[in-house]
Amino acid sequence: MERADEKAARLKTLMAERRTEPGRLIPILQAAQRLYGYLPRPVMEAVAEGTDIPVAEVYGVATFYAQFRLEPTGENVVRCCMGTACHVRGALKVLRALEKKLAITAGATSGDGRFTLETVNCIGACGLAPVLTVNDKVFGALLPEKAVEILDQYE
Ligand code: FES
Repeated sequence: MERADEKAARLKTLMAERRTEPGRLIPILQAAQRLYGYLPRPVMEAVAEGTDIPVAEVYGVATFYAQFRLEPTGENVVRCCMGTACHVRGALKVLRALEKKLAITAGATSGDGRFTLETVNCIGACGLAPVLTVNDKVFGALLPEKAVEILDQYE
C-alpha cells in the first residue's frame, strides 16, 4: 500500500501537471479519490492549495457530485440499482432487504466496516433487472432473499 507521503507527492505532481488546464478540478478530485479512496478534508484543502481554487469551491464540487465520497467506504461497496427497469422489477424490496441485513440505510457503512451500501440509477444491465453490484461484480435477476445471500458470501 502506498504511504501517505507518497500519495501526497503524487497528487502534488498531478496538480502541477494540470496547473493551467481549464476544468481541471474534477479530474484532480477523481485522481485524489482514487489515491485516498475518498476525499477527506485535508485532501480537499491540499487540492485547493495546489490548484489555486478556493477551498469553498473545491468543497462545493466534491459535495455536489455523487461520484465523490467524503467518508471512507467499507471493505465492500454494494450498489443497488434503483433505475427504472430495476425499480419496476422490485429493486426497492431488494434495497430494503439489504438495509435490514446490514442494519443501515442506503448511503451508510455498516458498523463493522464490512459494507457500504449505495444506490445507483442504472449500471447498464437492465436486462438482468433488478441488479446490484458488490465491488465490481454484477448480480442480476434478484429477489430480496437472494440479495441477502449474496452478502453472506462476502462476510
Ligand atoms: S435500471 Fe438497473 S441496470 Fe439499468
